[in-house]
Parts: sequence; structure tokens; C-alpha cells
Amino acid sequence: MSSIKISAIDFCVPEKVVTNDDLANIVETSDEWINQRTGIRERRVVSGKENASMLGYKAAKKVIDKIGVDPLDIDLIIVAASSPHKAYPSAACEIQAALGCKNSAAFDIKAACSGFIYGLSIAKAFIHANMYKKILLVATDATTKFVDWTDRSTCVLFGDGAGAAILEASDSQDDDVNYINLVADGGHKDLINLDIPNANCPLADKNEQAPTHIMMQGREVYKYVMLRIPREVRKILAQAGKTSEDIDYFIPHQANLRMIEALSERLKFPEEKVITNIQKYGNISAASIPSAITEAIESGKIKLPCSVLVCAFGAGMTMATAILTLRDHLK
Ligand code: ACO
Repeated sequence: MSSIKISAIDFCVPEKVVTNDDLANIVETSDEWINQRTGIRERRVVSGKENASMLGYKAAKKVIDKIGVDPLDIDLIIVAASSPHKAYPSAACEIQAALGCKNSAAFDIKAACSGFIYGLSIAKAFIHANMYKKILLVATDATTKFVDWTDRSTCVLFGDGAGAAILEASDSQDDDVNYINLVADGGHKDLINLDIPNANCPLADKNEQAPTHIMMQGREVYKYVMLRIPREVRKILAQAGKTSEDIDYFIPHQANLRMIEALSERLKFPEEKVITNIQKYGNISAASIPSAITEAIESGKIKLPCSVLVCAFGAGMTMATAILTLRDHLK
């Protein structure tokens, strides 16, 4: 059985910066409120015709160029995209065409902000099954296209971005994705909801159009995450026979800095082990974990090689945790 190697990781964000003061010009809010409650100072948003597939392509191109992969050698593209601009074709097929990965299969998955870890798990299973050898995993979201810009309780939270990783079959004894757990709780599906426009055949009864923007019960999400995520993190630590002291870095989904601080404290990860970048990007959904890993490696905050515990949660509710090994070649 082959092991899974994380060969490269990277990310990209759109150029357009929107600060908290900019938002205060369109909704009743302030830099002080947003910073105090969420830790976010600014975010990047797509403009014009930019969309999740384009962001995903840019992140994928960066990661491919970083280690000189021939696009023809990629045999599978998995794209975690929960805010694509099309129901079909998939973002994966659009990215495949743009990259010229003519020999790959390609499909999207939808697990909201947990998408990157869900994708890692699928890649690990395919590599262990010897079905694919070189997998491109992209996590991309242009959530700001689906935000209600008159709703101050949601519009201040989100930004856009994409992350990408190359995952390869290796003969090494050790998997770089050491432990991974996926969880879904459809019982809480209404906490975060985004309908897509649809209409019945004119020969059938008319259907009611639901609002086509993100509806979120923010306070309930906060409480839910504070209850569930510590449990999931403790579960994966127990599976690995480790405690938080054995883990070099903790990289939680970047949804709210106050939430990250509370989770880290509860789980006994001291500040120097906790990686954040929400201050600059807001919640960039599935791209938040690959972006945080990449930036922390580039800035030297993460010293390689190391073990990291990543955890994510998002609409669904979906949740995911993993313990990864990040090796020297990722520098
Ligand atoms: N500026 C100023 N005031 C605001 C703003 C704003 N941007 N937003 C809300 N308020 C007001 C509310 O109207 C309310 O006023 P009231 O007391 O007069 O009614 C007050 O602030 C408190 O509102 P709450 O919603 O209770 O504020 P809270 O402290 O819970 O913070 C927040 C809200 C930031 C949304 C927080 O609950 C949170 O981060 N929740 C988790 C969100 C999350 O993690 N989502 C995951 C999404 S991932 C995905 O899959 C898409």
C-alpha cells in the first residue's frame, strides 16, 4: 500500500482589499466592533468576472509551478468548492481545462469550510487504494458573491480565497496525513444556509423562491462549535495516543479569532503554537487551512519538519480534524 505525501501547498487571494472602515460605509458597523468580536481587520473580495474556479486555478498553478509538476502527470483533481459560480460543469473540470491536465479525472466536493480536510481524506483513500498517484487538491470559495451586503451580522465575516496541494503516492513507511476524521451533523443543517435560485416547470405548481444569500445563526454556530470541536480534537488526539503537548502547531478553521482563542485555551494549545491569518482575510471557507499553513511556513512561524493538528467546521454542519506531518521540502 502506498503512503500519502504532501508534496506542495500554496494559496491565493484576490487583489481587492476591503477594510472594516470600508464596510462601515455600507452597513451600520465599525472597525472596533468587527475587530473586537471577530479579530478581522480586512478581507479580500473577488471583483468583475472573478469567481471560485479562477481563484482555484491560480492557487493550483502556483502549487504546480512550485515543484515543477507536469500537468499531464496529474491523475485526479478534487476541488472543494461550496460557492461555485455554476452548478455544472464542476469547478474541477473548469480548473482541469485551464491547467491542461488532460489525463486526470476531476470532481467537486461540497463540505463548506471543512472541504480541504474532506478532500485530504478522499485523496488519502485513493492513494492507499493505489487508484491515483498524483492528486491535485484545490479548496476554493468566492463566498462574498453570496453574502447579503445589507446584513451586518454576516457580511463582515467573509472573504474569498483558494488553497491547493499536490498529494502523491510514496514508498515511505509514514503517511503525511497521519490521522483524519470526518463528521457531519445534518441535524444542524439550518444553522448556515445558502439556497440556489431555482423554479418549477411552468406546468407544475409554482414554488416559493427562498432568499439566495447566506443566512447564518451566528451565535448558535458559535455555541455549537465550542461544544463540538473540542470533542473532535480530543477524539483524534486519543486515536493518535497524543496530547496537545505532542503537537507542534494547532491550525483551526479561521472563522472568528475569539473562537480560535477560546478553543486553543480549552484544548491547551499555547498562543505560540496557534496559527492564525483571519486578521487579513476573514473567513475564506475551505481555503482557510491551506492559506494559514502556507503563510506560516513562508513567514517562519512554522518550523519544519513538524506535526500539525488541523480542524474545521462549516455549513452542514460538517466538521473534520487531521494530524499532518509537514516536512522540510514544503519550505
Ligand atoms: N456591527 C455592529 N453590530 C453588529 C454587527 C456588526 N457587524 N453584527 C451584529 N451586530 C449587533 C447585533 O445586531 C446585536 O445587536 P443587539 O444586541 O442590539 O441585538 C449585537 O451586535 C450582538 O449580536 P450577536 O449576533 O449576538 O453578536 P455575537 O457576539 O454573537 O457575534 C458573530 C456575532 C461575530 C457572528 C459570532 O456569533 C460568530 O462569529 N459566530 C460564528 C460564525 C461562524 O463561525 N460561522 C461559520 C461560517 S462557516 C461556513 O460554512 C460558511
